[in-house]
Amino acid sequence: MEQEMNPWSANQSIDTEKFFTEFGIEPIETVLEHIPDPPVFLRRGIVIGQRDYRPIVEAMNTGAPFHVLTGFMPSGHPHLGHLMVMKEVVWHVRQGGNGYVAVADREAHAVRNISWDKCDEYAREYLKCLYALGYEGQTYYQSRNAGVKDLAFEAAIKMNFSDLQAIYGFGQETALAHAMSVATQVADILYPQTDAGPAPTIVPVGLDQDPHIRLTRDVAFKLRMFTVEQRDGYVSVRSKNAPEAALAAVHKAFAGSKKYEGHVDIPGAPYDEVSTRVRFIEIDHGGYGFYSPSATYHYFMPGLQGGKMSSSIPESSFGFCDPDKDIKKKVMSALTGGRMTLEEQKRLGGEPDKCSVYLLNLFHMCEDDGELAEVHRACRAGELMCGTCKKATWERVREFLADFREKMDEVEHKVDGD
Ligand code: TRP
Ligand code: SF4
Repeated sequence: MEQEMNPWSANQSIDTEKFFTEFGIEPIETVLEHIPDPPVFLRRGIVIGQRDYRPIVEAMNTGAPFHVLTGFMPSGHPHLGHLMVMKEVVWHVRQGGNGYVAVADREAHAVRNISWDKCDEYAREYLKCLYALGYEGQTYYQSRNAGVKDLAFEAAIKMNFSDLQAIYGFGQETALAHAMSVATQVADILYPQTDAGPAPTIVPVGLDQDPHIRLTRDVAFKLRMFTVEQRDGYVSVRSKNAPEAALAAVHKAFAGSKKYEGHVDIPGAPYDEVSTRVRFIEIDHGGYGFYSPSATYHYFMPGLQGGKMSSSIPESSFGFCDPDKDIKKKVMSALTGGRMTLEEQKRLGGEPDKCSVYLLNLFHMCEDDGELAEVHRACRAGELMCGTCKKATWERVREFLADFREKMDEVEHKVDGD
């Protein structure tokens, strides 16, 4: 079942091996067993990798605080391709996460040349979708959040042009505002910890967003005053750039600790307790005490015609408020894994793993594992024909949209409050 549920073998252009070996992303399987009742995106191989997800899983299981954050660039109408991250955020909030959603209007304006008015208009649509999916938590616009803008400035102190060049290929001609929007995204990711206290923060993203995550983890580390290390029988708190008074405060906080030049050693102390106390001592002395952010990485749903799903390729996706007849047409003319003739299809069976209709079901339209497995089986067995299958899929899409739109109407007032 697990292998069959994995649709990626044939059609993902990203070299996933490289993500694991070169960038140090870990497979999701290493933490999956600790997640009771995993949602669709975790149990069907849609999320394939993670960084530091363990503390998040632990927090979900123990009720310890954690944050969840994502951002949406309001550069067009929200569509099918945005649904996955929205669902991931909503689910993490339901698991106890403290939710934040950033409207990346600075980025849309600086990088995509979207007017502020248009940003507002698109942003409202994104937020409506989120609330309709059951989101509860904060939302903010980058351009109107003074805390985020201040934090972006602080973060920018720890970023330089050669990093940006290496990570994003920025060059001499790159607009300064583009670099500023990168600093703003770093600030988005760290903002929950300045707003509601230091805690692990999960950022669910697509595989392509890992550069932002790596950069933010690097900045978060550089903004720390101390490192806390477990040694043989003691915990060592080492100053990176802490003021002397902060180091003295660490010494004072732990009876029996020994203070040296640039570090304090604490024999017999539990690591977690020390690390937590040290974060707050940092904050008392004007620091941040950041946890490095955690991330999960998901595959992208391919376009309905194969290839990339993107708002710049209209037939690859649909907007949630597009007319039904347009959406139906896209589903009915989607690229399938069907054979050239009915006879062949019956004899050889279809290829669901290469079929965008199957993937549409796998990602979003068929929550029931049994039902999905039956589509897969019947397709491969040559019992299910593409016409029938597409009609059934369109029915699911239609139902989903009817419900989604009704909910969007119901939550309209929440968006006005933002
Ligand atoms: N850059 C992201 C995009 O292109 C949007 C974004 C802004 C974001 N801030 C974020 C994503 C913080 C994740 C976390 O869509
Ligand atoms: Fe895809 Fe359905 Fe056709 Fe199979 S029967 S190839 S799943 S459309």
